[in-house]
Amino acid sequence: MIHYARSNLARELAEQLQGKQVFNDAYNGLFLAAPRRTGKSTFLQLDLQPALEAQRVVVVYVDLWSDQRRDPGSLIADAIARSLQSHLGLVAKAARASGLESVSIGGMKIDTRKIGQIDGVTLVEALKALHETAKAPIALVIDEAQHALTSEAGENAMAALKSARDQLNRPGEIQLMLVMSGSDRDKLLRLVNTNGAPFYGSQIRRMPALDQDFIAHIVRLIEGQRPELAPVDAEALFKAFEGFGHRPQFFMEALGQALSPLDSFEGRFESAVLAAAAQRQKADEAQMESDFLGLRPIEQAVLWRMLEQGPLFRPYDAEALRFYQEKAGQKVSAQKAQNALESLRARLPALVWKSARGEYAVDDAAMHRWYAQRVTAGTWPPQGPQIGLDLEEDV
Ligand SMILES: Nc1ncnc2c1ncn2[C@@H]1O[C@H](COP(=O)(O)OP(=O)(O)O)[C@@H](O)[C@H]1O
Ligand SMILES: [Mg+2]
Repeated sequence: MIHYARSNLARELAEQLQGKQVFNDAYNGLFLAAPRRTGKSTFLQLDLQPALEAQRVVVVYVDLWSDQRRDPGSLIADAIARSLQSHLGLVAKAARASGLESVSIGGMKIDTRKIGQIDGVTLVEALKALHETAKAPIALVIDEAQHALTSEAGENAMAALKSARDQLNRPGEIQLMLVMSGSDRDKLLRLVNTNGAPFYGSQIRRMPALDQDFIAHIVRLIEGQRPELAPVDAEALFKAFEGFGHRPQFFMEALGQALSPLDSFEGRFESAVLAAAAQRQKADEAQMESDFLGLRPIEQAVLWRMLEQGPLFRPYDAEALRFYQEKAGQKVSAQKAQNALESLRARLPALVWKSARGEYAVDDAAMHRWYAQRVTAGTWPPQGPQIGLDLEEDV
């Protein structure tokens, strides 16, 4: 597995986080959105974390998707506690060895038995203690942060982080940096732009996708290992990479296959990769289409409305109910709409996402692109047996 390092981007963001760039508010919290599988987690852990650590920042990374059954609030608390424990290490060990039940850090008493437990100390205390113990600024990196909005405990954790940030940071002296990433800009937006949102006013930035430089790096690797293939058509490979939605994993798989001696493709390998990209796109679309067609008419109508309205989606207003009725060809009460939403959410994989406040969104933002493309092409809604049946009933 190769890793293409994105050091420049990492260094730049690390500077912004530390408040070293004027006219940039990343020190208030950096929110990064990019589609699934485009390299966010990899970047955060393999590029941004080392860049921050090189500046003597203690980095705590937590992925809220790592364990979907666990509460986001406790996942965050655990990650902080683990880091605290490793930094406290000697202090706490010595204290425990001498029978002390608590150590005093920065004027705070911390129970040595409870460090590492979620309920031992509050998030704010734990972050302060970590800061005091490590004697260094902290960056808390929360991957798939939108997941925190799906439970009250997660929401509370976000509010606590904001409070910790405000307590620890002074102008010109940033001690707590917060980085939040997410696969869906609309969901991440709820952290910064709704009433009472914990990070009200912060901007969400699109994390840049891997670009031509990544392809140039791959081209150098290929030309190094297989000189007979030089010159490699970088443009064609970049086009294929775009076709794969800038997702390195699928691209690398196709590349590996096209370069394999067992591959039966005749002609240049670049064309094989391009063909694989086109196939992948088709397969992704076919999957969404069959998911959609497999839904009951009310579920289709609700999902349709959600795709059409995006962030403006209101599940039960009169207009929405009228829309459902028109599309599903039957009267749809708010209760029925809610049942449909719940069954869309309960599917595996889920088609619908719900926040603790009862806001809904499509689970996979890629569906918005699929919908927009089909609308533009005049092929929305997908036609399938379900809709055909409805028509027959009407006749
Ligand atoms: N810079 C990179 N170089 C090479 N492969 C990468 C790079 N970034 C991501 N990948 C690969 O792409 C896949 C998805 O990356 P990941 O970071 O998990 O994406 P995300 O967090 O956006 O869903 C992984 O298999 C990873 O190995
Ligand atoms: Mg990820």
